[in-house]
Amino acid sequence: MAFWALGGTVGYYSNRGLRPVETTLLERYRAALGGRVLELGCGAGRVTSHLCKGSDAVFALDIARQMVVECQRVCPEARVFEGDLRDLSRFGSGSLDAVFGTFNVLDMLGDGERGRVLDQIRRILRPDGLLIFSSHNRGYAARLGTPFRLLVGDPRQPLRSLARLPMRLGNRRRMRWLERSETDYAILNDAAHDFAVVHYYISRDSQERQLGGHGFELVQCLDLEGRVVPCGAMAADCPELSYVARRVGPATLDVVVH
Ligand SMILES: C[S@@+](CC[C@H](N)C(=O)[O-])C[C@H]1O[C@@H](n2cnc3c(N)ncnc32)[C@H](O)[C@@H]1O
Repeated sequence: MAFWALGGTVGYYSNRGLRPVETTLLERYRAALGGRVLELGCGAGRVTSHLCKGSDAVFALDIARQMVVECQRVCPEARVFEGDLRDLSRFGSGSLDAVFGTFNVLDMLGDGERGRVLDQIRRILRPDGLLIFSSHNRGYAARLGTPFRLLVGDPRQPLRSLARLPMRLGNRRRMRWLERSETDYAILNDAAHDFAVVHYYISRDSQERQLGGHGFELVQCLDLEGRVVPCGAMAADCPELSYVARRVGPATLDVVVH
């Protein structure tokens, strides 16, 4: 989490480009996204700027001050907060129509934290509200390549790869001990940001079960091109899957502790 709080990637995420699946999601779920929407880990406002075009109210949250400043600059109509998505207590119960978390923002969390965040998202969504997010696909993990090949970098850019090798080796040495493989998920130190972070990987069906365990029903799972990934499919050629989940069950009441 310390890596993200530094906000060093603000340039990397400062653009307005949408991936095909994000365009599909914004169009297909326009009605739910037209209400009160919270974007988690908004970054520099890449998706926030599109949410603002059609929503009654957009709230956005990011842990990095530089990201918050940039997001607020490009999206003056949004309310952008600096904060940790592991604490959603500033948002009232049932106060939102949709929560959006694209580009794998929930994958920065461990398994226990992820479950607790899903519970908090359920609390702040109205009954039938939507959670739309993406996550690294465990079905793709076998294609990530060996750490050695990844560390060597891109053979088409040998000088750039060589220059980054010491940093990559240092990050890999520091982060690899966090890797683990469990029945329902894996934590992997992939090549993103030169191995400086670990990510949560989960298969489509495990994600559906996890959502069910936290009071959500899966509406749809899509690959990066916006194609439906059906139950049982691995989508082994797709590194990231997007999920649309509906909050089910009764409304949550705020419990006031005296
Ligand atoms: C992969 S980037 C995605 C940025 C943006 N959603 C986009 O798609 O362009 C992840 C973002 O999540 C933010 N982030 C990471 N951990 C966070 C946390 N615990 N709470 C809030 N934001 C966090 C990072 O600062 C970063 O801006």
